[in-house]
Amino acid sequence: MELTQTTIWQTLQQHRQATASVRMRDQFAAEPDRFERMHESLHGMLFDYSKNRVNEEILDALCALAEQAGVRAYAESMRRGDKINASERRAVLHTALRLPEDAEPVYVDGENVVAKVHQELTRALAFAEKLLSGEYRGATGETITDFVHIGIGGSDFGPRMVMQALQPYHRNIRVHFAANADDADIAQVLARVRPETTVFCIASKSFTTPETLLNGATARSWFLNQGMTEADILKHFVAVSSNVESARKFGIVPENVFAMFDWVGGRYSVWSAIGLPVMVAVGAARFRELLRGAHAMDRHFFTTPFRRNIPVLQALLGIWYNNFYGSESQTVVPYSHNLRRLSGYLQQLDMESNGKRTTVDGGVVDYHTGAVVFGEEGVNSQHAYFQLLHQGTRLIPVDFIVPMRTAYGYEQHNRFTVANAFAQAESLMKGKTLAEAEAELSALPDEERHKLAVQKVFPGNKPSNMILLDELSPFNLGMLLAMYEHKIFVQGVVWGINSFDQWGVEYGKVLAKAIEPELLQEGSLQHDNSTNGLIEFYRRCRSEPGLTEK
Ligand code: F6P
Repeated sequence: MELTQTTIWQTLQQHRQATASVRMRDQFAAEPDRFERMHESLHGMLFDYSKNRVNEEILDALCALAEQAGVRAYAESMRRGDKINASERRAVLHTALRLPEDAEPVYVDGENVVAKVHQELTRALAFAEKLLSGEYRGATGETITDFVHIGIGGSDFGPRMVMQALQPYHRNIRVHFAANADDADIAQVLARVRPETTVFCIASKSFTTPETLLNGATARSWFLNQGMTEADILKHFVAVSSNVESARKFGIVPENVFAMFDWVGGRYSVWSAIGLPVMVAVGAARFRELLRGAHAMDRHFFTTPFRRNIPVLQALLGIWYNNFYGSESQTVVPYSHNLRRLSGYLQQLDMESNGKRTTVDGGVVDYHTGAVVFGEEGVNSQHAYFQLLHQGTRLIPVDFIVPMRTAYGYEQHNRFTVANAFAQAESLMKGKTLAEAEAELSALPDEERHKLAVQKVFPGNKPSNMILLDELSPFNLGMLLAMYEHKIFVQGVVWGINSFDQWGVEYGKVLAKAIEPELLQEGSLQHDNSTNGLIEFYRRCRSEPGLTEK
């Protein structure tokens, strides 16, 4: 039966109508235990979802929706290595990347992946530690001071964000990233390093991604142009890939290739050797803490009843607004400068996973799926788009992420940041009535007071989740990221889509391959007339420099 025709979906629609005029500020006034009932704690994390437009009945109905969709059975299929990524015929086992070594075996095609995971993890961590200790030397005998990670998409966002998030734990090697095909990216990195003291890592699961191969080739030519030899490449270029043969053709010996597994999707791969830049930045022990944190969230997700299950609740609340309130987007606001890349990372994780309209059975959905995810670090975002959250016409649920402590010791900054996060959530929920706005302006004459007061009304009743971390430690970061992975998984199951393929990014790549040689040629063009016109403009700009000034 179509999802929207099921009894539980219709029950939720009725709840939506019946509670249309309910205001959260009244619910808080009537329910002194609302926070107590509507928050969960796990290790150093607190998840407060009390500022949402729900009551117990709605939460129960949402949990019933997850039951009906088979979330429990799907999660179990994922955990035990079934090929739930049907369109690519792959298992989905990022959770296996953070299993302890003595965990129950998990089999894919008859092979125990837990043993394989630990073998590769140990290799990658040992390599990172060798760089950090200075034991590993470059071709000229110098110690390595810089590590350049070249990858894109899932082979870039995760390690780049995690490395930045764990800045207080950085050790003695500078880590750089180059992802964009725009040469400004790689050029700026190359300008900061010396070939004798740098290790380049080409990170690509497929080893076919053109942006990464282009940047890799540029780095390789630069290296050789700086007086280094082909033989020196052995010491200065490594790869993370599941395609050892293509890495070898690039000039990287198999001993320098760290394996990725075909049962881990790119955007879920930061826990694998794709995390090498994180390992190099913070060392083996901290990276293992990150994995332990993620595993703690996995255990919570796989074993906790839905009504108390953090990622399940987060997913269902997202569905509530997306499908029953017509909300189109979701903002994630980390009140942490070191987490400033989190929203960008989640954009790929969420939108590449759940930006789908075809169900696993080949039907087309008649309801909305993945939301538009955006965000910016707090408090900066308050000075940017929060105006629209407070007084705009759209309903945009917010995830606030707030560490309670920072590593830098400026206590007043910490209190300021935390107070602002709490205040934003409170004001979004409470709003400000006309009477309250007028009371604040009592000194003004009547007419002027009213004119100004209407501008100062906040409709309120705007939902948010508050995710507190006792500190931004590797363990807590691991929990946080695994929480989002599972949230996305649950939503995908309820919507009946495959969260683990990404056919939508392929088409444009194919067309770009055809256009690139046309930019150089003179010949006639066979595209639509807009694309033809754009290509012709490019050709003119290149053949007549200064064209735009004429
Ligand atoms: O953006 C599309 C994509 O296929 C992502 O899913 C993937 O993370 C990225 O490209 C990079 O792929 P690879 O690691 O194979 O270079």
